[in-house]
Amino acid sequence: MTATPILGIETSCDETAAAVVGRDRSGAPVILANVVLSQVAEHAAFGGVVPEIAARAHVEALDGIVRAAMADAGLSFGDLAAVAATTGPGLVGGLIVGAMTGKAIAAARGLPFIAVNHLEGHALTPRLTDRLDYPYLLLLVSGGHTQILLVRGLGAYERWGTTIDDALGEAFDKTAKLLQLPQPGGPNVERRAAAGDATRFALPRPLRGEARLDFSFSGLKTALRQAAEAAAPLSDGDVADLCASFQAAAADSLADRTRRALERFRTEFPDLADPVLAVAGGVAANRAIRAALEAEAAKAGVRLVAPPAALCTDNAAMIAYAGLERFEAGLVDGLEAPVRSRWPL
Ligand code: KG4
Ligand code: ZN
Repeated sequence: MTATPILGIETSCDETAAAVVGRDRSGAPVILANVVLSQVAEHAAFGGVVPEIAARAHVEALDGIVRAAMADAGLSFGDLAAVAATTGPGLVGGLIVGAMTGKAIAAARGLPFIAVNHLEGHALTPRLTDRLDYPYLLLLVSGGHTQILLVRGLGAYERWGTTIDDALGEAFDKTAKLLQLPQPGGPNVERRAAAGDATRFALPRPLRGEARLDFSFSGLKTALRQAAEAAAPLSDGDVADLCASFQAAAADSLADRTRRALERFRTEFPDLADPVLAVAGGVAANRAIRAALEAEAAKAGVRLVAPPAALCTDNAAMIAYAGLERFEAGLVDGLEAPVRSRWPL
């Protein structure tokens, strides 16, 4: 029997997801169920996520997804220790659907409700997948965020750097749109990049070498658009070369900032037995980026922890796990917990 199973619900963007996470006898976290339904097809014709369509799709799918997760876990609601749902940041319509569903289950069963910050879900995922102690350095790279965080403990996140313009996932998505590849852009750019020549187009590495730990990707995006316009009309080979050149520039920029952050991390924490650089968020699924970070971590004598791709992109296992850590720390919320479109860590 698994201890303290928590149901997690995620509806902040275009994935309707439910999962159950508990602990085994040794105390290690266990994913008992992890169901994700992507709405990609619903939004495909619009070139991006349409909030109203997303909210309606969550309403239609969520009950069935929750039931599927409970069935996969082989549990009934009465077996749960608590219910956790993402209450921000994200699209308000979807957040309301997930939060109301989670609160209704909690109220009906007399269970605690836990309001989870989506970013905290990403930030703690490395602890779900790997045995990992606090503190660790975290690179959070998703569709909405690009941040370097020092994770000191549960709820104790120190932001060392952030993007001054676009998030990296957003830059991948815009690159895909420009090159007429389907959304979400990241996986499609990566797929096309595999056949491309990364040295064909010389794209900039914004903020390279600067002491501060911030990121910038809008200059890269503009340079890519200019390169694409100059090479038009684009053959399949041109598209592959543009994707490869963009991906290489993105990986390089990330590696450069990470190198600086690792220096600071090693200086501030010289005595850690197991110093770790963890990555999380959808862009962490990218293999070229993982390889670049692996190289930086190795040079700094730090272990890279990169969760499996399916746990880097949006899912509810990370929400259930964040709920589990919060539950164990006594951090439960009332049914009046609000949803928040903006909610910095
Ligand atoms: O974490 P996530 O699923 O949702 C947010 O919280 O934003 O991240 C989604 C982002 C999208 O921009 C998507 O294009 C990007 O992650 N992404 C990737 C890859 N897979 C997803 N970017 C680059 N390479 C990938 N393989
Ligand atoms: Zn996310």
